[in-house]
Amino acid sequence: MCGIVGYTGANPVKPRLIEGLKRLEYRGYDSAGVAMQQDGGLTLVHRVGKVAELEEALSSFDDSSTCGIGHTRWATHGAPSEANAHPHSSCQGDIAIVHNGIIENFAELREELLSRGHVFTSQTDTEVVAHLIEEAYDGREGDACKGDLMKALRHAVGRIVGAYGIAAVCAQEPGRIVVTRKDSPIVLAYGEEGAYVASDIIAVIEASRDVAVLEDGQFADMTPEGISYFDAAGNAIEPPIMHVDWDIDVAEKGGYPDFMLKEIHEQPRVVRDTLAGRLSGGSLVIDELGLSLEELNLIDRVYVIACGTSYHAGLIAKHLIEMWARIPTEVEVASEFRYRNPIVTPSTLVVAVSQSGETADTLAAIRDARIKGAKVFGITNVVGSPVARESDGVIYTKANKEIAVASTKSFLGQVVSLTLLAMLLAQSKGKLTLGQIRLLYSELADTAEQIEEILSDTTAVEEAARACKDAASALFIGRGVGSAICYEGALKLKEISYLHAEAYAAGEMKHGPIALLDEGFPVIVVATQSPVYDKVISNIQESKARGAMVVAIATEGDQEIAKHADHVIYIPKVRDAFSPITASVPLQLFAREIAVLRGCDVDQPRNLAKSVTVE
Ligand code: AGP
Repeated sequence: MCGIVGYTGANPVKPRLIEGLKRLEYRGYDSAGVAMQQDGGLTLVHRVGKVAELEEALSSFDDSSTCGIGHTRWATHGAPSEANAHPHSSCQGDIAIVHNGIIENFAELREELLSRGHVFTSQTDTEVVAHLIEEAYDGREGDACKGDLMKALRHAVGRIVGAYGIAAVCAQEPGRIVVTRKDSPIVLAYGEEGAYVASDIIAVIEASRDVAVLEDGQFADMTPEGISYFDAAGNAIEPPIMHVDWDIDVAEKGGYPDFMLKEIHEQPRVVRDTLAGRLSGGSLVIDELGLSLEELNLIDRVYVIACGTSYHAGLIAKHLIEMWARIPTEVEVASEFRYRNPIVTPSTLVVAVSQSGETADTLAAIRDARIKGAKVFGITNVVGSPVARESDGVIYTKANKEIAVASTKSFLGQVVSLTLLAMLLAQSKGKLTLGQIRLLYSELADTAEQIEEILSDTTAVEEAARACKDAASALFIGRGVGSAICYEGALKLKEISYLHAEAYAAGEMKHGPIALLDEGFPVIVVATQSPVYDKVISNIQESKARGAMVVAIATEGDQEIAKHADHVIYIPKVRDAFSPITASVPLQLFAREIAVLRGCDVDQPRNLAKSVTVE
């Protein structure tokens, strides 16, 4: 949820840290700070707010430092403040660290360190690590670690329990940065200008497209001359180097006013890339799952586990898997799944959906499911992420890096991937013929062009957004797979515009939510062509009868609906099973438009972070 960046080399560190932090800002953005080696000491600067505030504060500092670390924070322990912003330093101020993750035993360690005279300046869990390193470095733990930052770091992480990505610098060791991780990503790259470390590839790929992904328990020792890697026992290792083939322009807005709009417009490409190469010899192929059709045929229960938007993709998957493959499917938020005792057997398939691939609750649920003997498939956007590595098989969504906190293109990639999985399960069970599979695949591929059509004229969405922007609350309703689309539409609206929104299966209206409706209350209805279209029209009429303002997402050519709704947003005709792929797009645009009209920060909404690596 936070971001780490570090550089050591021949060039000024300050602009490199700022540039890296800006690229990482989407992960957390309530405060930021740097520690730079300078004049034989460390210079620490922290600011509350966006990285731009830190950049401004650093403008009066010269460029003499060539080694340092930086951090952008999303508060867990301790409110956003300069005191709680990273880097944190030791009592003497000669050791500084940045940390992502949670130190679970920090309270005991803090007490222990206080009793030995350490003085704490923050409320964070992280600060204990700086003091533990200090004790080891200055010889209070014996001579073994004395004067050696790497050994002192090893000693410190031996004391802590939790998740961490850590980078540390020391005033007495110019040009050196030491790094380690457990359950929190760290990547390193060595380029022409020196050595880089970050918690996310996006902060290092300008330096080099070849990056090393640190594994749990490994350490990296960075100097301007190179990076050395060590395993948990201290043996030198050569980590595999991953070549990053996506372009740095994912980190640029490319002419769009915000990343969210850019990412919405990338969705036709996401559909095409996610489908590419999946139909071979007339049947579906997803080799990365590592299970044969015969093995898939043995699956008798599916759980989809995920959080937030990814959970909504799971709701859509349930409809498709049960409709085509006839396998009972439950969708559960990961934070619930992990704490109850779900019925999982070796013939259960658990599908873990996570854009970031690092969501703590989803990871914990994966681990739990595997212990219980289930097969786990991950659906993620991030190659080599913990979800990918801890699953038996994985489907990558090919959305490429998503910067806006509100998921759009990743969601679409998830829905397309889950649609393929549902088709594959049906193929393995003999519930769909190869002819049917080919037809579905071809119609699925057509949705890319249909999204382009939706994006080519957004006038109706903008008009509807203007009509709804001042509302205090909105209701999203739909039936069947349309209700799943509504959950996602409502989440998008509330997370970026702070307008309260709720989603209901439309048949539930009369059982409570209808009480909310009065003159001008916005009701957004997914009313595309489906077997329950007539029922949805009845729900629209019920809403209109209470004075509600109805915005309908409807199928092109549907003249009838214009008689009932105040605003109609037409989308191309697709089969009901694929309507989530097309109908989600106007809802994304609707949410964004309202957020813009309300003056909200579309890409970095308050209180949220892109990846939720804590419980
Ligand atoms: C989506 O707009 C949200 N930012 C959020 O609900 C997100 O989908 C959720 O935190 C799950 O993240 P994941 O897909 O990375 O696991």
